[in-house]
Amino acid sequence: MNAIALLTDDHRKVEALFQQFEGEADPVRRGDVGDSIMAELTAHAEAEETYFYPEARSATPGAGELTDESLKEHQQVKDVIAQIEGMQPEDAGYVPAMQRLKQLVQHHVQEEEGELFPKVSAAMGEERLSEIGSRIDEMKKASAPRA
Ligand SMILES: [Fe+2]
Repeated sequence: MNAIALLTDDHRKVEALFQQFEGEADPVRRGDVGDSIMAELTAHAEAEETYFYPEARSATPGAGELTDESLKEHQQVKDVIAQIEGMQPEDAGYVPAMQRLKQLVQHHVQEEEGELFPKVSAAMGEERLSEIGSRIDEMKKASAPRA
């Protein structure tokens, strides 16, 4: 699968999970959805950082700055995830921290889909993008504890 299609799918998946999170009143189930969101985001960040950004940088004029920006955003996402992991779903700070996480992710998605992905897509051929997509797929299959 084309790496950009795959990463875009990840974005949609996380957005759907945030929606589910917001509709969930039970703290235990909300905590489960929160865990899924954080697992998805962690795998997504790893896929982008390891397989996508390095290739994007070397193949795409102007992608260096955009991927630097994305890396900063990933760090912010990881910092908030680390905070949330130290909380219980019923803690007063849990939902606000998840809301902060959602804002960071929305911003990241807008930047990637609005700027980085179109540039990389235009610069890299379908074949190269599919190759990178396959590697991301393999990485996810190898690291996913659940089916
Ligand atoms: Fe992304």
